[in-house]
Amino acid sequence: MWPTDTERLRDRVATELTRSRARSAALTDAVDGTDLVRQHSPLMSPLVWDLAHVGNQEELWLVRDVGGRPPVRQDIDELYDAFRHARGDRPALPLLTPEETRGYVATVRDKVFDVLAGAPFDSGRRLTDDAFAFGMIVQHEQQHDETMLATHQLRSGEPVLHAPAPPPAPADAATLPPEVVVPAGPFTMGTSTEPWALDNERPAHQVHVDAFAIDTVPVSNGAYREFVDSGGYATRRWWSDAGWRHRTDAGLVAPLNWHRDADGTWWRTRFGVVEPVPADEPVYHVSHHEATAYARWAGRRLPTEAEWEKAARFDPATGRSRRYPWGDDDPTVEHANLGQRHLRPAPVGSYPAGASPLGVRQLIGDVWEWTSSDFGGYPGFAAFPYREYSEVFFGAEYAVLRGGSFGTDAAACRGTFRNWDYPIRRQIFAGFRCARGLRDEEAG
Ligand SMILES: [Fe+2]
Repeated sequence: MWPTDTERLRDRVATELTRSRARSAALTDAVDGTDLVRQHSPLMSPLVWDLAHVGNQEELWLVRDVGGRPPVRQDIDELYDAFRHARGDRPALPLLTPEETRGYVATVRDKVFDVLAGAPFDSGRRLTDDAFAFGMIVQHEQQHDETMLATHQLRSGEPVLHAPAPPPAPADAATLPPEVVVPAGPFTMGTSTEPWALDNERPAHQVHVDAFAIDTVPVSNGAYREFVDSGGYATRRWWSDAGWRHRTDAGLVAPLNWHRDADGTWWRTRFGVVEPVPADEPVYHVSHHEATAYARWAGRRLPTEAEWEKAARFDPATGRSRRYPWGDDDPTVEHANLGQRHLRPAPVGSYPAGASPLGVRQLIGDVWEWTSSDFGGYPGFAAFPYREYSEVFFGAEYAVLRGGSFGTDAAACRGTFRNWDYPIRRQIFAGFRCARGLRDEEAG
């Protein structure tokens, strides 16, 4: 629950800052200096860029703005401005060395703890009330940690990250109904009260959603493999025009990291480990185009963003929207697979304690879920604290993803949280579930 007094809120901020930094350190200490400055994929920054960029954003917002302190390294602002340099160009920049980077982020963090000790959280300034700026910086670091985790997945070489496997699927996973009916009617989408919600999640507003059915669990590797093995990638009619063009140009034949051997067995590479593709795990590393094609093959479609959020948050008993599918409490290990606790999704049907009131599972954690919606502002949207946070990405170029993945930290994940990416992207930990509209007689 949200701390009610200032000192407890300060403690919470300190804990979150420390937790995010421990994760950044684990991701960057796992490889040597050569690996840190290498570009493992043109889609990604060198790990050392992400780390310094995290420190630079923290300096800009917390040291200079909130704290009103003099700059630590104003000379490097331009190098670590994500809007100045495309990811592919970042390795050629005169970046700080790994050693300089570690020193820089530590210096900034020391100053931030000093700022935190005296920061007012109820002065009427929106940036600092409820410690918003600190929450934004915590989420920013956790988001880059997930990006760094994706870089690790793209890196070749021996495994350097290790984590226990998720628990096996619960006994009822095999007997769950394939889909859940969500009744027609209005629900509250977005939030005006979640203290650390970002501008694109605001404000809360009523949305009418027609009756629909949504998959109880994300689409599994086993189900997706049927699409692959039935020639789905070679069948024009399952694909949108843009999807087919991309499938053809990029030569896609299966999810990223999947390989078929001579016997026809599918294998995957996961953080350097080669293993058979597990049939009962949610599929991931698929693009929006692939998800859309699968859904069409299955006689279904992707859910809209509003459908996804209604399935996740709407409580028919009270008519209100919850923070998470299971209620308003922060996630625990019983609710969802978050925070890189495991280096893979949990089997479909896992986390019964994390189910929504209507019985939909794994909406939070495991894999990001592609929706059919473009990224846009809600009615009444106001950019905060800067246009580049989300507004400049609004438009048909980006599709919305929901729910977070095994690589998403709880601090950067909630029922209202919105992520967005290009429909061709598949290095992210993204899968999907399907939905369908209901005929009147089914809607009841
Ligand atoms: Fe960033």
